[in-house]
Amino acid sequence: MTALHSLRTENLVSGYGRTTIVDGIDLDIPSGSISVIVGANACGKSTLLKTIARLLPAQSGAVLIDGKGIGQIPTKELARTLGLLPQQPVAPEGIVVADLVGRGRHPHQKLFRAWTAEDDRAVTDALSVTGVLDLADRAVDELSGGQRQRVWIAMALAQETDILLLDEPTTFLDVSHQIEVLDLLADLNASRGTTIVMVLHDINLAARYADHLFALKGGRLVASGPPADVVTSELVRQVFDLDSLVIADPVSGTPLVLPRGRHRVLPPATTPEPLENTGEPDER
Ligand SMILES: Nc1ncnc2c1ncn2[C@@H]1O[C@H](COP(=O)(O)OP(=O)(O)OP(=O)(O)O)[C@@H](O)[C@H]1O
Ligand SMILES: [Mg+2]
Repeated sequence: MTALHSLRTENLVSGYGRTTIVDGIDLDIPSGSISVIVGANACGKSTLLKTIARLLPAQSGAVLIDGKGIGQIPTKELARTLGLLPQQPVAPEGIVVADLVGRGRHPHQKLFRAWTAEDDRAVTDALSVTGVLDLADRAVDELSGGQRQRVWIAMALAQETDILLLDEPTTFLDVSHQIEVLDLLADLNASRGTTIVMVLHDINLAARYADHLFALKGGRLVASGPPADVVTSELVRQVFDLDSLVIADPVSGTPLVLPRGRHRVLPPATTPEPLENTGEPDER
């Protein structure tokens, strides 16, 4: 198991030009756990992850790794500690899978030092756990959306960082590959103690896989805590402006959100009992 780094933000404000999107967020990411950020489209989730990964400067406040502002950490050292899979990564034209995944090893290569057997091992491991080893020689731009997404995840894994940020890693994946990727990240967390912070759109998968949930609305943190405490129909209304029933997921026991749309809804008497909440979300 690798050493665990701590990650938190302090009154973090960031955005684009003069526009503020992330509006004063204190995140205390539990080390060695899986944290999931949820929230409606455009509430600032990607902006938050990009600021944490130093791809976007903070307008004020701080991102702290082991108590040190990320601005003070040398680039390669930061890249060996924290990796980000962005929401819409762009591959260099014509690059083949193995070379793209190999780019994840750059932070580990010293100046003038060539590729090592250790780099080979990391790339092969990453390709095989994500199930894309047989695509190693294919051009990335010829792959299906789901294959490509697994290749990007492989690149993030090859970086072998203690902290892994993933912005919607299950996009483009069919249901079985979604579960496969989330199980893979849970394995990585269990075996290496990797701190995982990801944005997921599927609130039910978020509730199932998160140790800790952060809910954002309008660039602010509105709830934080274990899914069983945080995911309630009130929260779903507050965050997504959606009427829903929250029951216990019969597979995992975690909260399961059943949206009530305007159509195809049974009369109230025939719907299951709502889930009893086990506690109060801790507001941070
Ligand atoms: N590069 C940019 N320049 C200017 N505005 C941007 C830029 N990227 C995002 N925004 C704006 O910032 C706001 C938050 O965007 P962000 O991508 O953080 O949302 P999100 O919560 O990740 O949404 P989604 O769920 O759709 O991915 C949006 O209003 C968006 O239009
Ligand atoms: Mg986003």
